[in-house]
Amino acid sequence: MKTRITELLGIRYPIIQGGMQWVGRAELASAVSNAGGLGILTALTQPTPDDLRREIERTRTMTDKPFGVNLTILPAVKPPPYAEYVQAIIDSGVKIVETAGNSPKDFIAALKEHGVKIVHKCTSVRHALSAERNGVDAVSVDGFECAGHPGEDDVPGLVLLPVAARKLRIPIIASGGIADGRGMAAALALGAEGINMGTRFCVTKEAPIHDNIKQALVEATERDTKLMFRTLHNTARVFRNAISEEVVATENRPGGCEFEDVRPLVAGARGRAALESGEVHNGVVSAGQCIGLIDDIPTCAELLERMVRECREHLDRARGWMD
Ligand SMILES: Cc1cc2nc3c(=O)[nH]c(=O)nc-3n(C[C@H](O)[C@H](O)[C@H](O)COP(=O)(O)O)c2cc1C
Repeated sequence: MKTRITELLGIRYPIIQGGMQWVGRAELASAVSNAGGLGILTALTQPTPDDLRREIERTRTMTDKPFGVNLTILPAVKPPPYAEYVQAIIDSGVKIVETAGNSPKDFIAALKEHGVKIVHKCTSVRHALSAERNGVDAVSVDGFECAGHPGEDDVPGLVLLPVAARKLRIPIIASGGIADGRGMAAALALGAEGINMGTRFCVTKEAPIHDNIKQALVEATERDTKLMFRTLHNTARVFRNAISEEVVATENRPGGCEFEDVRPLVAGARGRAALESGEVHNGVVSAGQCIGLIDDIPTCAELLERMVRECREHLDRARGWMD
């Protein structure tokens, strides 16, 4: 396949594995890159910038294909040393960064000076336009269906992508809700030149997640996600389990709740422990509505080959209706 995204990133298929806290490690990123897509390490999964340097080296022993690093910039009382993580990326010679969360504008000049391509992931067209003005190379546009933080506008991909395609000049990557070749075909028809997936890649053989979690996602339907933190204006789409049900119930109680009231339930370490131990109901697990489309646990290579084949079939089928 050839789009502006395959050219920009030097990949065979325009399929990207989005940054995923606790999941975006060398095992998964290298498997996606080896399969012809773009694997992405998650910087903040590594406790320090030096750990990120080591993880990048570890990934290099597992693939000779391009891979990227995700930098999620979130407001925090005590923020991680973002500039040091950026320096680790530059020093390690990684040439692709996915930024997400707040605007990456403080880091763009340094990254570009070292030839790093920047894909900014955002959930609204106004933020995508601002990223374009700031000089990023491409945007991933995350629809309301997505896992993680869909923003507060609640616009699904079917509308968000074509609006973005009408307004942006830089290439667009469709993100959120895609798990098969049908979704990929639709995204290309809507104006995207690549796709980004999170949840689907969690349910692959190489994802460093306990099998119980993968199996729970296979069994789930499209109705099994929950939107937490709506009342705190920091919405997160996660798997519906005992923890997310309790968080939402706490938010909905009379008088609402403060973040402190739910902090022990949503602690990052607890979510990480659930992913590793397989205790499905013991921590927050990010997941998107596309869990309703996932019914097996393939290798990344099997997944990508199948998706590209299905994508071709669905585009051909639709083209046939136009004759
Ligand atoms: C387990 C998990 C963890 C995630 N963590 C992050 C993260 O740390 N930073 C980020 O930018 N996006 C994160 N995401 C979002 C993905 O990168 C991607 O944008 C999203 O999953 C796309 O929607 P989909 O799951 O419907 O494919 C996460 C997604 C999942 C499933």
